[in-house]
Amino acid sequence: MKKNSISEDILKSIDQNRLPKHIAIIMDGNGRWATKKGLPRTAGHKRGMDTVDMVVTKSRDLGIKVLTLYAFSTENWRRPEKEVNFLMRLLKTYLIIQRKKMMRNNIKFNVIGRIQELPAIIRKEIEKTVKITSGNTALTLNIALNYGGRVEIIDAVRKLFKDLLAVKKDLNATDLVNSIDEETISNYLYTAGFPDPDLLIRTSGELRVSNFLLWQIAYSEIYITDTLWPDFSETDFYMAVLDYQKRDRRYGGVKSI
Ligand code: FPP
Repeated sequence: MKKNSISEDILKSIDQNRLPKHIAIIMDGNGRWATKKGLPRTAGHKRGMDTVDMVVTKSRDLGIKVLTLYAFSTENWRRPEKEVNFLMRLLKTYLIIQRKKMMRNNIKFNVIGRIQELPAIIRKEIEKTVKITSGNTALTLNIALNYGGRVEIIDAVRKLFKDLLAVKKDLNATDLVNSIDEETISNYLYTAGFPDPDLLIRTSGELRVSNFLLWQIAYSEIYITDTLWPDFSETDFYMAVLDYQKRDRRYGGVKSI
């Protein structure tokens, strides 16, 4: 059977009424993919960008509402300067090339992370892309950049504290503290307004969450594949969605919700 017909067959088995609303992906294995082929690590990132393009297009076509991709963590600055610079340039290229396609495909672009710490040239391209795609409604593409789950919680607590201090004089301290609930925390995270991920995909077989969306993945279904990110295909993507649809989501209860 041809590769295309395999992915078309899997696509046909996906239940359109039980799609995950939000898919988050830890795109891992670019470096190993390149090393295995005797290429520099940067070649893996370059091929990884093609997989990003495929996953964004297929998510949009399938009817996924939010896709969050982990592109650069707060810890990734520890990589060699050459690799960091390459990743930044790649991101810039991606934004410039994909902007038109995002408009054609009705995709809204958004970023999560400590964006203010990124190089000005990248911020400029991000701002431009966010602005021109802001009215799009089919899929929101969230790119996590200079993102860390712990740092996100620190930023949320700092912002919440500031807001609480501003209203302090009108309320008693105990009432103020007790007013904090799950919804409050969610609303102060970078992902405020987005549903939590239903499905978290990680490529390259590592069994960890690597500081990604720590609060938001509390009840996400996790799908891990040994496939390295540059090799992650349309078929792999549909397989992950299909696997998700077989899960029994109980959220700590006894019945599937
Ligand atoms: C993890 O693989 C991947 C990254 C840290 C970077 C992800 C970047 C891309 C997929 C390309 C560009 C992205 C966008 C959004 C345009 P790794 O380098 O940690 O691989 P390894 O574990 O095999 O070393």
